[in-house]
Amino acid sequence: MLRSKKLGFIGGGNMAEAMIKGLISASFVEPKNIFVSDVVPDRLEFLHSEYKVKTVQDNRELVEKCDILVLAVKPQVIKKVIEKVRDLIDAKKLLVSVAAGVPIETILEVLKAGQNKKYNVVRTMPNTPALVQEGVTAIAAGDNVSKVDIQIAHRLFEAVGKTVDVEEVHLDAVTGLSGSGPAYIFMIIEALSDAGVKMGLSRDVANILTVQTVLGSAKLALESHKHPGELKDMVTSPGGTTISGLRALEEGGLRSTLMNAVEAATNRSKELGRNAKKQEDNGAKEDKSD
Ligand SMILES: NC(=O)c1ccc[n+]([C@@H]2O[C@H](COP(=O)([O-])OP(=O)(O)OC[C@H]3O[C@@H](n4cnc5c(N)ncnc54)[C@H](OP(=O)(O)O)[C@@H]3O)[C@@H](O)[C@H]2O)c1
Repeated sequence: MLRSKKLGFIGGGNMAEAMIKGLISASFVEPKNIFVSDVVPDRLEFLHSEYKVKTVQDNRELVEKCDILVLAVKPQVIKKVIEKVRDLIDAKKLLVSVAAGVPIETILEVLKAGQNKKYNVVRTMPNTPALVQEGVTAIAAGDNVSKVDIQIAHRLFEAVGKTVDVEEVHLDAVTGLSGSGPAYIFMIIEALSDAGVKMGLSRDVANILTVQTVLGSAKLALESHKHPGELKDMVTSPGGTTISGLRALEEGGLRSTLMNAVEAATNRSKELGRNAKKQEDNGAKEDKSD
């Protein structure tokens, strides 16, 4: 499905590198069919020497050469990037955006520039564990995107972890849960490790015990297909140590705190989206009055 396609990354930063590494090591795409453009020449040199991918400094050259374009630049520059290449894009190309908070509608507006053309745009929300091929990516497809193109988008991100389909309206909740989620888990890891040190363990030992406990518990939850409550009960013997620890967590409001965190991050994601839309509308008004 992917092997016959030419894949182009506009922006060769962290997310692009994670995907390139995953795609090559899974043999989903050959390095000769991967192109990367970036404004930083050193970055291109590094990606070429490390992964043997083809690199170009000009985004237009990359767009001309590729069937699938991954927009892997920061959200603040995505509109300018599209504006400069839009005349080279048509309905035969698939556009996959990883830019947080940039709606499909915005990408389509920039692409169309007032014309009534059709484009294939998919918006995604990966997370940082993609850097170690253990990410999770939510995928939302725009109108007109074919089933085959949606499958291609899944394949791209299966190289760096798992994928799920969502309606675009749910991407704020995805951002609040799995997008920001790694930070919640890192804070929990840090706190548990501190707790081990408080109880007299060395930092190194506390870190290993904590990180492996989080990793192993996640793997058990994933592979056993058991409800997390059942897995928790397996560790919790009557009158034992775990139930005392769990009671302390309940007293500290762990569940409500985590729910509040996801709700707060989801609401912030919505707010940032609304602010971006306002700026866009103001920009359009200024353009018209020029
Ligand atoms: N990293 C993650 O885990 C993660 C998770 C979810 C979503 N995302 C999304 O992924 C996108 C990329 O994130 P990232 O962390 O990979 O960012 P990054 O490391 O900053 O990579 C972006 C790269 O694009 C380059 N660039 C800037 N302007 C360009 C242009 N006009 N043409 C070509 N390249 C250009 C940047 O150069 P300069 O550094 O000189 O600007 C940089 O090398 C973002 O939109 C972000 O929202 C990332």
